[in-house]
Amino acid sequence: MKYFLDSAKIDEIREAYDTFGIDGVTTNPNHIMNSGKPFFTVIGELAEFVKEKGIEGWDKFPISVEINPHLDDADEMVEMGRKIAAMCPNFCIKIPCTEPGIAAARRLEQKGIRTNLTLVFSASQALIAAKNGSLFVSPFIGWKESSGEDCAQYIQDIVTIYENYGFIGKTQIICAAVRNGKQFVDCAVAGADIVTAGLQVFKDSFYHPFTDYGLAKFQAAWDKTITD
Ligand code: E4P
Repeated sequence: MKYFLDSAKIDEIREAYDTFGIDGVTTNPNHIMNSGKPFFTVIGELAEFVKEKGIEGWDKFPISVEINPHLDDADEMVEMGRKIAAMCPNFCIKIPCTEPGIAAARRLEQKGIRTNLTLVFSASQALIAAKNGSLFVSPFIGWKESSGEDCAQYIQDIVTIYENYGFIGKTQIICAAVRNGKQFVDCAVAGADIVTAGLQVFKDSFYHPFTDYGLAKFQAAWDKTITD
C-alpha cells in the first residue's frame, strides 16, 4: 500500500519524502490555505520539488491539486484543470464527485490529464469514478468514522467492486482523511492502493509505547554488559 502525504506545506512534504519515502502528495483548498501562501505559489513550489528530486511525472510521484471548489460548470472545471496540469507533469487534477465534476474528469482523462475524484462518500460514487477512467478515487474515511460509521466494510466494498469489473490497477483507491493506525490497517487489509494522511498521523502510526519500553530494557542490559 502506498503512502501519500496530505499536505501543501513544502517542509512537511520534504520531511516525509526524506524520512519515510512517501509515494505522492494530496492537497486540497484547506491545506493550501494552511500553508499561508497563494495557490499558484504553493503549486509552483511543488513543481520545483519534483524537479529537484528527479521524480517528474504523475507515474513517479503523483501530486493531486484541487480545482477551485466554487466551479460548478464542467467547461470551467476542464479549463482550470488544463491550466494546473500544464504547470507540472506530476499534477493530477482533483475534482469533486458531482455531476459536472464527473463530466469534467471524464473529459480531462480523454485528453490524457490524470484526475482524482474526491469527496467520495459511497461505493456507488467510487464505481462511477472508475467507469469514467479517473486515475484516482478518494473515499473519505476519517470524516465518516467521526460521524459514527465503521469504514472497514465500505473500503472492502469498493475493492470488491473494482475486482469484479477489472478496475484494479486502472483506478487507484486513495483512502483519504485517514486519522489513525487502525484505519491504516483497515485500508491495507481491504487491499486499498493508497492511504493519504497528515504528517503527525503517519508519525503516530509508527509509534508504539512497547517499542520505547523494550528499548529502555535493552539499553539497561547493554549497560550491564561488557562489550569487548
Ligand atoms: C483527501 O485527499 C483530502 O485532501 C483530505 O484527506 C481531506 O480531509 P482532511 O483535511 O479532513 O484530512
